[in-house]
Amino acid sequence: MATVTNIQDLRAIAMRKVPRAIFHYADRGSYDETTLAANKADLAAIQLRQRVMIDVSDRSTATTMIGEKVALPLAIAPTGLTGLFHGNGEIHGCRAAQAAGIPFTLSTMSICSIEDVAGAVDKPFWFQLYVMRDRKFSESLIERAKAAKCSALVLTLDLQIQGQRHNDIKNGLAVPPKLTLANALDIATKPRWIASVLMGKRHSFGNLAVRQESDSLSTLSQWIAGQFDPSLSWKDVEWVRSLWPGKLILKGILDVEDAKIAAATGADAIVVSNHGGRQLDGAVSSISALPKIVDAIGGGKSEIWFDGGVQSGQDILKARALGAQGCLMGKAFLWSLAAGGQAGVAQAIEIIRRELDVSMALTGTRDIEQVDRSVLAL
Ligand SMILES: Cc1cc2nc3c(=O)[nH]c(=O)nc-3n(C[C@H](O)[C@H](O)[C@H](O)COP(=O)(O)O)c2cc1C
Repeated sequence: MATVTNIQDLRAIAMRKVPRAIFHYADRGSYDETTLAANKADLAAIQLRQRVMIDVSDRSTATTMIGEKVALPLAIAPTGLTGLFHGNGEIHGCRAAQAAGIPFTLSTMSICSIEDVAGAVDKPFWFQLYVMRDRKFSESLIERAKAAKCSALVLTLDLQIQGQRHNDIKNGLAVPPKLTLANALDIATKPRWIASVLMGKRHSFGNLAVRQESDSLSTLSQWIAGQFDPSLSWKDVEWVRSLWPGKLILKGILDVEDAKIAAATGADAIVVSNHGGRQLDGAVSSISALPKIVDAIGGGKSEIWFDGGVQSGQDILKARALGAQGCLMGKAFLWSLAAGGQAGVAQAIEIIRRELDVSMALTGTRDIEQVDRSVLAL
């Protein structure tokens, strides 16, 4: 196997290892994918400032996110269907993240349940909540996250309705995965995935087990359309706040006006995010929204975090320079999980940590806490 030196190598391995429908689910964006592309292109366009002859021995990438110590300003983003990329994928991902000293976020739409993950790790993780039509059920998820001692609740705001991803429809992506004539040949070429996922015991939404009527559950997009609630409003954020006394993170903010409202709720952090280019196609890139939001609400109670296109240590350095206290990564996490399970995720985090460390050094920075806009060639 070729030597892995960066996240793109892990993506290439993931493409070979998992069925096309699963790979596309992670890799692709909504509609024409212009926002997906902008997330990456706008990050790439930001230039760093090379500095020389500054003593950069004894460097540190360690910082905090919502007061929790992190080895680098990075957390694993919540991703649905993680356990279809590798058997028990959420457990593997959480273990790798915790061993590397970064937080792991479990999605509402995970394959392993909150209890499965809590029973398999010994440190707290974060739980991401989608408020669904059935508020009683949402309330029960919050109670389960409390019982599992999750140390933060990540409330996602940008999926009241789902943006269309053409590939998921064309591929007939279904949960649990269906063996159809169209995908049988493809799946037959992925023996390790068959052994790890199909022959494993978990292939459906772990947290929603009691909610599923298997016959009516056809494609993922149809199911989501029925469950997600277009009537959500800021009142529902207040409602969640009243049920969850712990740390609260509001995810999916791209607009300055929304950021101001989110900050006024007293949230511990907000995540500047366009859901990885999977929702409103034509929306601005996440990195272009970040400095405007930092200028509007930075320095307040809510930390400002960033996601969308984070696939290297340089990306984290740029986001931190523009005012993000921390970053989340979605696709890069799933590719590494598909490529190598827990070891793959550990490898991805270490690749990114080293890239961040070396890039800091080459900008003349010893401590991540010193990073500000002066590391950018603006
Ligand atoms: C396959 C996939 C599934 C996702 N599922 C969720 C989810 O269940 N809940 C959520 O809040 N965000 C979800 N997201 C969005 C991520 O949390 C994150 O915002 C996004 O992936 C960041 O962009 P990146 O993929 O470029 O790192 C998902 C993203 C991907 C790629």
